[in-house]
Amino acid sequence: MSSILVAKRRDDYRPSDFFIDTVDISFILSPENTEVCNIMEVTRNISGCDILKLDGEQLNFVSLMINGRLAKENIDYTLHENGLDINLDVDHATLEIKNTISPINNTSLEGLYYVSGAYCTQCEAEGFRKITYFLDRPDVLSKYRVTIICDRPELTYLLSNGNKLEDTLLEDGRRKVVWEDPHRKPAYLFALVAGHFDRLEDSFTTSEGREVLLEVFVDSGRLHQAGHAMSSLKKAMKWDEDTFGLAYDLDRYMIVAVDFFNMGAMENKGLNVFNSKFVLAEPKSATDEDYFNIESIIAHEYFHNWTGNRVTCRDWFQLSLKEGLTVFRDQRFSEDMSSALGCRIKQVKVMREHQFAEDAGPMSHPIRPDEVLEMNNFYTVTVYDKGAEVIRMLHTLLTPAGFRRGMDLYFARHDGQAVTCDDFVQAMEDANDANLSQFKLWYSQSGTPEVKLALEQNQLRLTQTNKPTPDQAVKQALYIPIKLSMLDEKGLEHTVDEEHLGTFVLSQEAATISLPERLQHGVPVILTDFSAPVKIDYQYTLDEILHVLRFAQSHYAKWDASQMLYSRLIRLAYDSNEDNDNDNNSDNNNDNNKYNAGQIQSLTNLIEYLEQATLPDDVVAQILCIPSFETLAIEYTQLNPSRLQSAHQELTLLLARTAKDCCERRLKEQRVLPYRYEQSEVNRRTLFAVCIRLHVLALSQEGKGNDLLSAYAQADNMTDKLALLKAAQQADINAFDALMIDFEEEFGHDAVVMDKWFALHATAPRDDILSRLDLLQAHSQYSVKNPNKVRALIGSFAFYNTQGFHAADGSGYKYVVDFLMKLDAINPQVASRIITPLLQMNRYESTYKSLIESQLSRLFTQKNLSKDLFEKLSKTLA
Ligand code: PHE
Ligand code: ZN
Repeated sequence: MSSILVAKRRDDYRPSDFFIDTVDISFILSPENTEVCNIMEVTRNISGCDILKLDGEQLNFVSLMINGRLAKENIDYTLHENGLDINLDVDHATLEIKNTISPINNTSLEGLYYVSGAYCTQCEAEGFRKITYFLDRPDVLSKYRVTIICDRPELTYLLSNGNKLEDTLLEDGRRKVVWEDPHRKPAYLFALVAGHFDRLEDSFTTSEGREVLLEVFVDSGRLHQAGHAMSSLKKAMKWDEDTFGLAYDLDRYMIVAVDFFNMGAMENKGLNVFNSKFVLAEPKSATDEDYFNIESIIAHEYFHNWTGNRVTCRDWFQLSLKEGLTVFRDQRFSEDMSSALGCRIKQVKVMREHQFAEDAGPMSHPIRPDEVLEMNNFYTVTVYDKGAEVIRMLHTLLTPAGFRRGMDLYFARHDGQAVTCDDFVQAMEDANDANLSQFKLWYSQSGTPEVKLALEQNQLRLTQTNKPTPDQAVKQALYIPIKLSMLDEKGLEHTVDEEHLGTFVLSQEAATISLPERLQHGVPVILTDFSAPVKIDYQYTLDEILHVLRFAQSHYAKWDASQMLYSRLIRLAYDSNEDNDNDNNSDNNNDNNKYNAGQIQSLTNLIEYLEQATLPDDVVAQILCIPSFETLAIEYTQLNPSRLQSAHQELTLLLARTAKDCCERRLKEQRVLPYRYEQSEVNRRTLFAVCIRLHVLALSQEGKGNDLLSAYAQADNMTDKLALLKAAQQADINAFDALMIDFEEEFGHDAVVMDKWFALHATAPRDDILSRLDLLQAHSQYSVKNPNKVRALIGSFAFYNTQGFHAADGSGYKYVVDFLMKLDAINPQVASRIITPLLQMNRYESTYKSLIESQLSRLFTQKNLSKDLFEKLSKTLA
């Protein structure tokens, strides 16, 4: 096996032998052959080291000068596949390295790439080494000066980090722009963008009195879609000053929207690059969810300026230092800007739907991983979202004021440094005089803890189980804050933890809480607000779940109770389908048979409660949503996906019938106003989407149609249109086809909007889905080189088209693997994301498992397999 297929370990960290103090880098841009000249001042850090090992990948070396003298190959330096080793037995030197690169042939979208007439860079995590030879590691901080020379006057903007020093027309007609970033930074925060854009300008005066120029660059003709991004940026700047006392530190803040991007967005210093879907919005083309995501991602990248850029990571194992913390910060921001409950539910859904699955699969890793083969594989829901949950627990345990003290100390100590997660926790400890040594296990231990709760006569017993994961056999008890209360028989809610603050800390394997007599027949309300990223095991009866739904004070707890009820009913249907599978005489189609009268009644009771309670629209909407297939799947071992899919569908239909009047009434009550993105309207539209979907389902069961077409024609916004399309997709396939044609006619020109169209097609439950996918890949708006298109079409199919993907003959699996074989050579990072659902192989029943296994084995033998896929496949097939 080649040496690059050996994983790196966190424990092997060593400080860099050399530092690079300044970088003076020039680019002569050309799509096929860009010339790079990189002048660096280097300093020896570890005495005795006499070889400077620079990283470099896919570069054409031209020349090296050491202190003004032309260096000779094999005497002064050696070149190899992954870089350049320079013999350097001095404490200081000036190096000048020339190389060329080919941006137009760079389909990986990492390094410098050229696509649809614009140049763009992406350097995190290790992309700078595809631009020039460098110490491409985040603990090497340098001051950058960047010169961009371009002979194409139509590229109106030549951008890089920091302040613009010079913009001149050279005698030969070429343009030269020079930028300087006064802040030292790691190479992964470098950026260069050159293209023709429209520009939206605004300004913000910081609390320190700095006047900041704000600029949003978008494709020409889209200026009217940039306003929401700009106002989100200003809100984020203000919020970070108000909440954490953090102000912006440059005179210019630029955001560029590009159509070809591997991720959501990137926090390059002073020059954020965004996937255009997280910038562009107008009511006609963007949903409420898009508006929400734009606001939160703009904030996320802005918040990185302090948590990530001013204080950065020592090494990539510490990624959660910046990502977990910054996700937590953007979550708090969104909670303040919109509905806190709605935000929390979204966050919890991400954990239960995606993170729990990752932690139960072959890629299970702690939020601070110990071993990495391909760093791009570790931008995960674990590092990001579980990382944010860990920060949130600190915030809960230390209180908001204590957390703020810890943040202040963290910046006071580490501004301008590259540090570790331990440094962060140390600041939290020192600022609060707290002992977080057991808490820190959250950083090193992988897997989802399970907390079992038992109501014994006069006490509650809590037990935590931390099962072994593929990466870690031995686990320890974690420090788990559990928000907990008890409802008495009358429905009065009582705190039960010793300090009566409502949060019990389970720090040992088991603990008990004694109960006063009046609570000995009560019902626990547990893990309210998802106070820790754990699973709860408590054997509620259906009536007890309804008791929580009715009487818990917290809307979150009510929602969580509804989810428990649905999961329980689906489990019952799943188990009864299993019996039916073994008994050919039974009638599989009559879903009423799956449930006894009491079980059906529990659903009726839930709807009755919704009708009589006065809950906000968004809470009702959330309570009417059944957990997704993916969320449920994690609860099953030896899963038969098609059986779960049927059970899910059966409950959906039963809910639609039970809630028919409720939905009808709420649909009638809707007072439609012209579109505005504001919370009460968002809540109303959310409820509309849920009700219309259930209602259309209920009608279609009665053989009746619904006039979706005219409702669609009347909708003035994308949120309602998409709601109607989804309703049609699930219940009325003729209306769906008609609406999709209409949609394509209206939005066929808009790449961002068409992603929704591709995704709707890809998730439609239809028997000919694979030939549909073939046709869609031939669509003029589709391109295998564009990650958004690939995710919208093939990604949506693999993640969310349960019926097609898990087809019993294995054709869905084969389709995705055939596609991955092609995609891996073009863009391995995207291929490595699309493969995710297949990694769950070991949790499926043997027939499905072996179908997936044979496809993955076929992929594994592919020639020139990327490191990205190699790492995941070798772990899955191990
Ligand atoms: N650092 C980016 C963010 O979280 C994500 C990213 C990672 C983007 C790697 C591109 C490449 O905001
Ligand atoms: Zn981030």
